Amino acid sequence: MSENSKVKLSIDGIRVTVPKGTLIIDAAEQAGIYIPRFCYHKLLKPYAGCRMCLVEITKGSDRDPRPFPKPQPSCAMTVQEGMAVETKSEAVQKVREGIMEFTLINHPLDCPICDMGGECDLQDIAYLFGREASRFGEEKIFTAHNELNSLITQDFNRCIQCKRCVRWTHEIADDDRLIFIRRGAKTRVSTFDSRPFNSRFGGMTMEVCPVGALTSSVFRFKARSWEVGSKPSFCSECALGCSFMVQQRGGRILRFLSRVDHDVNGPFFCDRGRFAHDWLEHPDRIVRPMARKNGELTEIKWDDVAAILAENCRRVVGNHGPKALAVCTDPSESVESLWAVRRFFGDILGTPRLEHAPAALGLDPDDAPAVFSRLATLENVLTSKNLVLWESDPLDEAPILGLRMKLALEFGAIDGISISPLKTWLGRKGLDEHLIGPDRMRLVLAGVVQTFADRAGKMPDFLESPIQNARKLAATLKPELRRAADAVIERLLAPDAVLLIGDKALRAKRGEVAGLLLAVQLRELVTGEPLAVMPMFDRANSLAALLMGLRTQLMEGPGGPTLVGFTGESTLDWPGEIESGRLKAVFAIGDGLLHAIGMPGVTKLESLDFLGVVTDFMNPLAERADLVIPRTAPWERSGTHITLEGRIRSTDKITSHPAGAWSIEKLLLETAKHLEEAFPSDDEKLRLDLAGVVTTFGAFNEPESDRLKKPSKLAFRLSESGHAFRSIEEPAAGTFGAIVTDTCFRHDTNGMHAENVSWMPEEFACGMNEADASGLNLKDGDKIFLTGKTGSFEVQVKIVDVPAGYVTLPAGFAEFPIGEIGVLADPAIRLNVDR
Ligand code: SF4
Ligand code: SF4
Ligand code: FES
Repeated sequence: MSENSKVKLSIDGIRVTVPKGTLIIDAAEQAGIYIPRFCYHKLLKPYAGCRMCLVEITKGSDRDPRPFPKPQPSCAMTVQEGMAVETKSEAVQKVREGIMEFTLINHPLDCPICDMGGECDLQDIAYLFGREASRFGEEKIFTAHNELNSLITQDFNRCIQCKRCVRWTHEIADDDRLIFIRRGAKTRVSTFDSRPFNSRFGGMTMEVCPVGALTSSVFRFKARSWEVGSKPSFCSECALGCSFMVQQRGGRILRFLSRVDHDVNGPFFCDRGRFAHDWLEHPDRIVRPMARKNGELTEIKWDDVAAILAENCRRVVGNHGPKALAVCTDPSESVESLWAVRRFFGDILGTPRLEHAPAALGLDPDDAPAVFSRLATLENVLTSKNLVLWESDPLDEAPILGLRMKLALEFGAIDGISISPLKTWLGRKGLDEHLIGPDRMRLVLAGVVQTFADRAGKMPDFLESPIQNARKLAATLKPELRRAADAVIERLLAPDAVLLIGDKALRAKRGEVAGLLLAVQLRELVTGEPLAVMPMFDRANSLAALLMGLRTQLMEGPGGPTLVGFTGESTLDWPGEIESGRLKAVFAIGDGLLHAIGMPGVTKLESLDFLGVVTDFMNPLAERADLVIPRTAPWERSGTHITLEGRIRSTDKITSHPAGAWSIEKLLLETAKHLEEAFPSDDEKLRLDLAGVVTTFGAFNEPESDRLKKPSKLAFRLSESGHAFRSIEEPAAGTFGAIVTDTCFRHDTNGMHAENVSWMPEEFACGMNEADASGLNLKDGDKIFLTGKTGSFEVQVKIVDVPAGYVTLPAGFAEFPIGEIGVLADPAIRLNVDR
């Protein structure tokens, strides 16, 4: 920073040099001088409402040395060259006492029973800067407390009208807004029309509130702030991996608070991460293992679990071969747990049927290492002026990344384009947005591939056929789609371009991702530079699961089984494999399998020889299982997660499982002992074993490394890219295509039992556009039956902005089983709508 961009001033006689534009309150902080404040907050624009930060300015500047006649708000005034500021003079102290007296006029002074006690700015500032006694003898205004929503309690009496919460919702979160209603001493914070406050970032309002006016309904009256122990941890509710603090007392987890981490979440924390832990104490949680005896599930000992699992694996593999056993794990499991699954079932028992669900079914796992070799960092995403969001809405996929991108867009730090069938949050905030119907997306992609192929010159032979298909399709491009294709091309050619491949594209098995990766390869041939790519996986360890080969792979090798290539099979094929008698046993961790195959698939599982399920709650899978095994929660074990950008996040155990459940690693270690097979004996050994087998995890051998090792740029295999440019078929009249949406506020089995978040978002509905709805004589809230290939269910209609001929269907909601109608197995499926 040049000398010209610095300003020298004196504060309380101390010489301070700070950047031009610094607020006096911040300059004082840099000099070690604390100025009391209520409305000022570093994340918010200056407001100067509370007047607590008033200071004396005894010299305005070198240019105009006249003193200011009255005290000035240091939170709203920037430093000037030669300025002299007094923060501790008698006049300032008198002003502060006066402000405190006014601030406390209607304040109830109920610190002994206030949940904010011990961490309240008002309490501390009153003690340090206030008068000893109030002269206010009149009656205080009293109002009863209220719930802003089921998570936030509002005590109007304690509100000092600093407006931090209101400004937070307008300036930062911007999803549902708080406002001030009424005037004067009766001013209060409210939502418009007193509706419930429905925000994904609402919990942050409690953290910015400097007093006990907004407190957590969940934590309220459970403990005093000085009684709890705090430990740092990382969130695994989505693949971003935000930092946060866990507070517990006596082993009971009480609340999660934000923790500043400039590299990942900044100072932010979303409500899914903050509140979705209360399922831990749900009375229906399964804490002891059960086995089926005489048709009934009966509690058994942990040692028996390993013996039963070993015996069934031995029997099925011995009688029918390893392919008769299939395993589906949950990508949110820790790296250690995922690797234990791969080692035990894949390498010891030799099954090639290793899956994780939900999985990115649209991404050929053989292309995953090449995607990883181009993996964008968050820094790339948060500084790029040429983002291409392909069917991505980061607000849904990783809410805090969405929030940071929105702020970066508002500050002009990022720019780009969104290509999607649905409107996005960033689009509403000014990102160039092209709304394209799902079947038209591949036309745009064909236009991109055509242009890059024309510019790239000679092509490897294996790319010729998909490029020919793309050219044929591109020849039918209408002007509007050509404009979208040209906008994508322009962005992708820029050196700072980042391609975000959205969860909707990754999840759908329609070849589109292979087409995108072909475009990436051709763009790299044109520019000679690698393109940064960020697949927006929706689960914490999806990337790790893919890199470990947890998708059904061919196995070979004289020295033991080795994964050699993707077969194209997924969990969606298992019901058919069971019916044909090729699949005899399934071991499922979590409820991903349930969501993938829906009830029609689950009923097929009844004919298996053995079904083992690891779960926290009973669900249709567990109800049919021969062995039901409880799970340890992320806070009941230590473990590692790999984030969206390949960052390694390791968490410590915070509390113990209520009945001492085994982790997956321990379960498989004990099962391996029954089979007399060697197995890594603890998490550390599992990590080292993984580091030795999968080179990208070699970072585990280097304690200083906080990211997986990226290989230098790898080529894509693109074996599915031909499918990406198939011709467009006209849909059957009167039928609807499906756009599957997902948010990290999903209602999976645990989300359904986390009462704190099970109301968010507030409705589970089938989105349809107004014209389509009125054509069917439907209005908002009407019930319809949606019928697909494999079933039908009833759902409420919501009028939304969605392309004509399409409906949106949210995935991951236990009460909305979209797998049942076949939309996950076949994204091109057409649905019938009946009243
Ligand atoms: Fe300020 Fe808290 Fe009142 Fe909001 S509720 S205006 S943050 S005191
Ligand atoms: Fe957790 Fe994702 Fe929310 Fe961060 S954005 S707090 S990782 S759910
Ligand atoms: Fe400066 Fe409120 S902190 S006026």
